Amino acid sequence: MTRVLRVDSTSPEPHAIEEAARVLRGGGLVAFPTETVYGLGALALDERAVASIFEAKGRPRSHPLIAHVEGEAGALRVAARWDEQARRFAAAFWPGPLTLVVKRRADVPAVTSGFCDTIAVRAPAHPVALAILRAVGEPIAAPSANRFQTLSPTRAEHVLRTLDGRIDLLIDGGPCATGIESTVLALYTHPPRVLRPGAVELASLRRIDSSITAENEQARADEERASPGMDPRHYAPRARLRLSASRDDAERLARALFAEGRSVALLLRGDAPARPEDDGRIARRNLPSDAAGYGRELFAALHALDEAGVTDIVVEDVPTDPSFWAVADRLRRGSVG
Ligand code: TXA
Ligand code: MG
Repeated sequence: MTRVLRVDSTSPEPHAIEEAARVLRGGGLVAFPTETVYGLGALALDERAVASIFEAKGRPRSHPLIAHVEGEAGALRVAARWDEQARRFAAAFWPGPLTLVVKRRADVPAVTSGFCDTIAVRAPAHPVALAILRAVGEPIAAPSANRFQTLSPTRAEHVLRTLDGRIDLLIDGGPCATGIESTVLALYTHPPRVLRPGAVELASLRRIDSSITAENEQARADEERASPGMDPRHYAPRARLRLSASRDDAERLARALFAEGRSVALLLRGDAPARPEDDGRIARRNLPSDAAGYGRELFAALHALDEAGVTDIVVEDVPTDPSFWAVADRLRRGSVG
């Protein structure tokens, strides 16, 4: 069983932070909240500790991890160079949900960055993550705290769903405020390129550098990807996720699937009053209609529906508005067809 310590999310109790730091320094695995999703941490410069992250997650060794740092001083510990461009992005977005991929320092274990010659770095904004980083005084490698190809965790109980017994300690700091992973930006290419849409919007990045390009989100599975995390099978619930263009289409598809004997849930945006013909046999969940609220609740809703054992989740598609960039990406990659 994994030990769980509950902390105050804004001013975490020092004894819990000290315990997390002690376990990490001993080469152990600690899950902790960040503002995006829960991370599964180990010392980034300790090859064996990092190897155990891959073990616990069941993640292929070729998938690189993000080194979490307190700030730019920590970035210098893993980056071969930290140039003017990196400094500008860090100044604008750190601490926060932007991951910068730069050339890796030769003395950082190759396993940390999936044997790439680059390394992903991010300074998280969550007080608990920052307190742990400060207590440890070293970069912490942390992928999302879930088994490979399962839903990202935005609450402590989501971590336990797939990692209970596989990790030493879980610091429970309550629900994550953003709920969608960081934006991953490659700075080793010219122009810089977004490798994963995330909590920082493209337009905000382009205010720092207007030449930034973004991967075509419809990229097909057989295309070579710059970032292994772009695999379409990421972020999928156990149930089949099906996107519908409109609410009417979603309602129709849900009824048709139900008629086939499937256990169906509808995931709708905004207020969705029960329909007169609705006899309660199709589960309904409403997510906030704004992008920030929708992003915060999405993974938690999918976790809950998975727990409830539904076989199909019919999702009313989100607007094409740029604020839904990352949410639309996760829905598309989690869905079938
Ligand atoms: O918000 C987040 O980023 C969360 C929290 C815990 O910080 N972490 C997270 O880590 O989502 P993970 O491992 O689940 O996703 C990391 C993403 C993957 O898409 C991975 O391929 C990409 O970052 N990445 C990491 N290092 C890379 C590198 N050297 N080159 C290209 N892509 C890299
Ligand atoms: Mg992940």
